[in-house]
Order: sequence, then C-alpha cells, then structure tokens
Amino acid sequence: RTYKVAVVGATGAVGEAMLAILAERAFPVGELVALASERSAGGEVAFGHRKVPVRELATFDPAGVEIALFSAGAAVSKAYAPRFAAAGAVVIDNSSAFRHDDDVPLVVSEVNPEQVGNRPRGIIANPNCSTMQLLVALAPIHRAVGIARLNIATYQAVSGTGRRALEELGRQTAGLLNFQPAEPEVYPVQIAFNVIPHGGDFTDNGYTTEEMKLVRETRKILGDDAIGVNATVVRVPVFYGHSEAVNVETRAKLSAADARALLQAAPGVQVVDEPVGGGYPTPVTHASGTDPVYVGRIRDDLSHPRALNLWIVSDNLRKGAALNAVQIAELVVAAGR
Ligand code: A2P
Repeated sequence: RTYKVAVVGATGAVGEAMLAILAERAFPVGELVALASERSAGGEVAFGHRKVPVRELATFDPAGVEIALFSAGAAVSKAYAPRFAAAGAVVIDNSSAFRHDDDVPLVVSEVNPEQVGNRPRGIIANPNCSTMQLLVALAPIHRAVGIARLNIATYQAVSGTGRRALEELGRQTAGLLNFQPAEPEVYPVQIAFNVIPHGGDFTDNGYTTEEMKLVRETRKILGDDAIGVNATVVRVPVFYGHSEAVNVETRAKLSAADARALLQAAPGVQVVDEPVGGGYPTPVTHASGTDPVYVGRIRDDLSHPRALNLWIVSDNLRKGAALNAVQIAELVVAAGR
C-alpha cells in the first residue's frame, strides 16, 4: 500500500528536509506532490534520486491526497490545511497555526505517539524545533521523577528562520571578511559574528514568541500545566543545529549519574558526555545532518538539592521539524491511517 503525499512549502528549508527524509526512510509514497507559492511553481525539487515539479498551492485540488505535510508558515496552514483535511488528507502541520487548539494533538514521536489517533479535525501539529529536542531529552526525566521547573537558554541556528536566513548568514560572513558592510534584511541586526537575543516576535509580556512556544508547548505535550518554564531564546551564527543550556529542577531527586543512565536508554537520545575537549555534542561535530537528540554536560546543580544541568543539541530541520513530521506520518500509516 502506498500513499499520495503532498509537501506544502516543498522549496523551503524544512520542505527540502521533508522530501529528503521521506526518501531516506523509504516512506511508502505512491505519488509525491510538491507545492509552493506561484513564485517557485514551474521549478523542480529533489525527491530521492528523482526530480519532481513544483506546483502552485493556490490552484491545486487536494482531492485524493492522503497525507499532507505542511511547512509554509502559519498563514498558509490556516488557509489551506482545513481544505486538505476536508478533502480527506491527514494533515501534519509544522507551523504554529493549530498547536494550541484543544482538538489538535501536538506530537513528539518518542513522547506522546498515542496522540496521533486523537485528531477530530484531521490535523496533527508538529512542535516548534526548540521544544522538540528539549522534550525528547526531558520526557524520560519527567516520567521518572517529575519536572518542577525548567530554566532554558537556547543557541538557535539560522536555518530555523528559513532559507533566506541561511543566505543572509552566508552573505554577511563572506561580505564582512571582504570588508563589506553587513546589511541586515531577515534579522533586525547583523547575525554574522554576532548573537541576537530575539527569536520570532515580541509579545506583550516582553518575551518573544519563540520563548513563549517553549512555555506553552512543553506543558501541552507533557500534559502538565504545573511545569514552570523560563526561557531566553538566542539566535547564533550557526547554519544547522540548535543547542540548549537547560537547568532542570525535578520534583524528586535525580542525580546526574542516574540521569545519564536514564538518558542512555531513552529513545531518540544519544548521550555524549565525557569531561574532555570534544566530549560533548555541538551542532557541527554531532547534530548537523543527523537524527538524534544529543545530550552532554550532565551535571548536578551545585546550588540546588534537586536540579540538574544539561546541554541538548539536535538538527533543528531534522528532529526539530521534518524528521518528526515524517515519524508522525509513519505512526499514522502504522495505525492504518
Ligand atoms: P516559495 O518557494 O514559493 O516561496 P522557508 O521557511 O525556507 O522560507 O520556506 C517557506 C516555504 O513556504 C517555501 O517553500 C515557500 O514557497 C512556501 N510558501 C510561502 N508562502 C507561500 C504561499 N502563500 N503559498 C504556498 N507556499 C508558500
């Protein structure tokens, strides 16, 4: 049995990874439809060893599509995902459009896979990239001892902002090394050789939308509104792979040694934790282009009787977005759709 699969936003950074991962994992695709705006309709994208034509979303008839992976931004998802669902497709949406709707499950494949069947609107939401890698690492700790509070600082790659941001980092880096000015376009200030404490948009409480996603999505996925989440999101001049420094205050005591053992057995997690140079994960040495969520620098918090420090790194386009979306599609197919 194969499926007619649509990828909406197929020309984007996440869409490209979705196509690559569908092919890599040999997802049972019968027909693949690549959709984008009229700007790139008529072009082609790679799907495995094949090229597929890019078609315009606005004029495409979704009848017959069985699985639709959306990653073209929240406005596009709001407008088109319900139409695909009404036409019979299971929509797996990577945008923030539906993540907090009560009748849309928010699924991390290793954490709450059972939620995929609970989709009255035919839509399943894929979490934000930073929340995704955080929870692959933290769900086992939450199950074992309960998490009371998280204090997070992120170091997020530019690919999370999309293709134009990848180009901006490359252009500014090359330009600055050639004594040209940086000229920010996608980010409000220079990103090359800099760090920017601003992800998404500012909200009324002074936090950014990327920070508030960590708060709300963590609680929804773990099903526990009592978890305190304090986050600072920072954009760094890294192409692929988000990093997070996380202080975890647990309800019952969990030592660093016990946390390390727990994480070594956790699905989707790879522990890289030796107290020597390079004995920790980084975006470039470990995460970029790979599937696991890497955890290192596991330490007891010396200032608190029930707290740990972790360093969590993963490829934001893969586990943080496209891989989890494909894993959700695999769960949907395994359950007989
Ligand atoms: P396009 O190539 O036509 O602009 P990224 O996050 O890397 O910037 O990618 C965004 C993706 O969403 C691209 O594939 C882009 O297609 C697609 N997209 C953006 N706006 C629309 C739209 N109005 N209709 C369909 N696809 C869209």
